[in-house]
Amino acid sequence: SQCCVDPLSAMEQEDAIRQELGSLHGIPLYKSFIEGWPQVKAFQARPDDLLISTYPKSGTTWLSEVMDMIYHNGDVEKCRRDAIYNRVPFLELKVPKMCGVDQLENTPSPRLVKTHLPVQLLPTSFWEKDCKIIYMARNPKDVVISYYYFHKMAKIHHDPGTKAEFLENFMAGKVPYGSWYDHVRGWWEKKQEKKILYLFYEDMKKDPRQEVQKILQFLGKELSERTVERILHHTSFQEMKKNPAANYETMLPALMDHSISPFLRKGISGDWKNHFTVAQNERFDLHYQELMAGSDLHFQMEV
Ligand code: A3P
Repeated sequence: SQCCVDPLSAMEQEDAIRQELGSLHGIPLYKSFIEGWPQVKAFQARPDDLLISTYPKSGTTWLSEVMDMIYHNGDVEKCRRDAIYNRVPFLELKVPKMCGVDQLENTPSPRLVKTHLPVQLLPTSFWEKDCKIIYMARNPKDVVISYYYFHKMAKIHHDPGTKAEFLENFMAGKVPYGSWYDHVRGWWEKKQEKKILYLFYEDMKKDPRQEVQKILQFLGKELSERTVERILHHTSFQEMKKNPAANYETMLPALMDHSISPFLRKGISGDWKNHFTVAQNERFDLHYQELMAGSDLHFQMEV
């Protein structure tokens, strides 16, 4: 009957979605994304595009909702017009029925564009058109925990194994988008020569008003105190979690299973403490110090 899903076809569907990781110029990435790469590489940015760039699980969706609210002067209804993954298309996304570049080509200007690409792989037209870029970084301990749960709920991934195994893979850069360390450092260094506003998830948690003001200043835009207030309210974790346009619940069930772990999971800084063992934490700290040595980029591991 119509209400029942044939278990075999459901399994077949999952197999079609689950992706092996290939290598794109040395960066581990989903095979279907790599197949779509020529189109991404040739992507034509427009001068008024604004790029939201992050390593996965660093607050991309949060920043995207904030940006869409700013672009619509705090009009909540307009920001419910569609799901966040359609309002802010994902540049390199390529899965059956979803293609970021196609979506973007059908999006009127001014566009908000999402990417997780490491800085060296960003399509050159973003640099040529001198587009504004906002990068958001999050401390790696919370990123790895968030990424672990995301691997379980987002069906594009294979089983991440145990937390301990996933932690090893993360530290070795053997996860989609590769080394977190290279990613945050690469974008940080690029900030010296390009129009990049570099934000931190932890700052946004601590003082979202201040971060929104930084964004407004970067955009050269002014909003009334009341509008800023409305933006802060609408983009709080609690509000976004219950907003179907922001919480990914409208995503095809074959792609994400929120019953395993919701997309908006905890939304805090320092959740890693509930997951890392003392030994794992010590090992992680040593490795972190090694890979971040010589950089003036510093992370708060909790707020
Ligand atoms: P957790 O898994 O730690 O809860 P991304 O959008 O880059 O995939 O990042 C997802 C992470 O950002 C998740 O972290 C999610 O809960 C968190 N997040 C999303 N919206 C948020 C908000 N409004 N405030 C705080 N955290 C938010």
